[in-house]
Amino acid sequence: MIRILFICLGNICRSPMAEFVFKDMVERRGLADQFYIASAATSGEEHGNPVHRGTREKLKEHGISTAGKYAVQLKKSDYENYDYFIGMEKWNISGIMRIIGSDPEHKVSRLLDFSSRPRDIADPWYTGNFDVTYDDIVEGCQALLRHLEENGEIGSV
Ligand code: 4NP
Repeated sequence: MIRILFICLGNICRSPMAEFVFKDMVERRGLADQFYIASAATSGEEHGNPVHRGTREKLKEHGISTAGKYAVQLKKSDYENYDYFIGMEKWNISGIMRIIGSDPEHKVSRLLDFSSRPRDIADPWYTGNFDVTYDDIVEGCQALLRHLEENGEIGSV
């Protein structure tokens, strides 16, 4: 079982998008039973709030539902419960480190660091543009899946 936690600032826009896109990807490939996938925030600002409408509408275009997801904050004790802590941008990495303290098992990374063009995921919070965010997240999730396959962590994709 590979346990993945996607993380952003509020857990209402980017990390739930990554959570549900990645869940959809592994389901389509028949790999769902090899994964436990969730998302969380570095801040407590949005705690308990539903997924942002922009993310919900973008995912709906692709037949993906976020039903039942409400924002939660990352806890220090989560470190033992996941194999991968995947931030959306470099500021999330600082936020994650502030909470977990240290990363002796090298579990923390940025989603697009798995891709051939490492960069931050576009932040829709100020621009309202969820299309670019979605494209970045699909690219990152595909790269992550490829990484897991090349690493021998999952069967053929
Ligand atoms: P997210 O988006 O981190 O992708 O969920 C944001 C949510 C809330 C805020 C900023 C970004 N905020 O400033 O409250």
